[in-house]
Amino acid sequence: MTDQYAVIGNPIGHTKSPMIHGTFAQTTGQDIEYTAIEGPLDGFAGAVLAFRDAGGRGMNVTAPFKLQAFELATDRLERAELAGATNALKFEGDRIYADNFDGVGLVNDITRNLGVSMKGARVLLLGAGGAVRGALKPFLSQEPSALVLANRKPEKAQDLVKQFDHPALTSLEFNELVGQQFDIVVNATSASLKAELPAVPAEVFIRAKLAYELAYGKGLTPFLRLAKNAGVPQLADGVGMLVEQAAEAFAWWRGVRPDTRALIERMTIPLV
Ligand code: ATR
Repeated sequence: MTDQYAVIGNPIGHTKSPMIHGTFAQTTGQDIEYTAIEGPLDGFAGAVLAFRDAGGRGMNVTAPFKLQAFELATDRLERAELAGATNALKFEGDRIYADNFDGVGLVNDITRNLGVSMKGARVLLLGAGGAVRGALKPFLSQEPSALVLANRKPEKAQDLVKQFDHPALTSLEFNELVGQQFDIVVNATSASLKAELPAVPAEVFIRAKLAYELAYGKGLTPFLRLAKNAGVPQLADGVGMLVEQAAEAFAWWRGVRPDTRALIERMTIPLV
């Protein structure tokens, strides 16, 4: 029988996950069906359990349910625990396993696809929300010489630094970034979704090899425009991260890691 998977979110109309997983299934020869479910805002758990009880094997979880999925899980893998949120569930008997592949997808995209090593690099990570929480462990495991967090509300970045307690991890306020230089600058705020710019000084880009915008398909966001004008040679948006986190989930469910390169190329929207 064809194994069933789905992505659940609300709204869900914009999701690329069925196309991505459908492509992976084709290229790896896996017999799966992957659909999109609009979860009721007041009935997330019921919708997940109904899918599972009808034979569903796993789900991706997107906004606004990533925290509820974490709560619903019976077993949380370390990355989900550290992120406090999950984007992938796996059903086995009465167990619901939760993982979070966003951070590892981002690291895989930066290091493998874009060819930028994080080892020994000075990395600036903007934001202190769910996306940053999920990225901290995978980033630190790459052994950057410095990982600096900067957030509009500085105390949220300071709290994360305390919680993760790692010698390479520090935080600065936006205005303290003047005169600081970085090899990689990542915008993990949601500012670009509102066409806003985090108040970072352009100096942070002077030595940067890569400016990475987590939002996907927004073209040259204010953040990427600032980086481009400052002469950063490589600009990227989150298309690679989106495909890479999906590949990690697919491998977790099916035991086969799909190739991602052709799909990323096909989905890339030019940054203009
Ligand atoms: P996500 O799960 O995508 O990380 P989130 O948890 O809601 O979303 O966090 C959004 C992040 O974007 C926060 O770091 C937020 O900064 P504050 O904590 O100071 O609110 C950041 N953010 C949103 N709009 C911003 C803007 N215009 N400028 C700078 N930071 C912004």
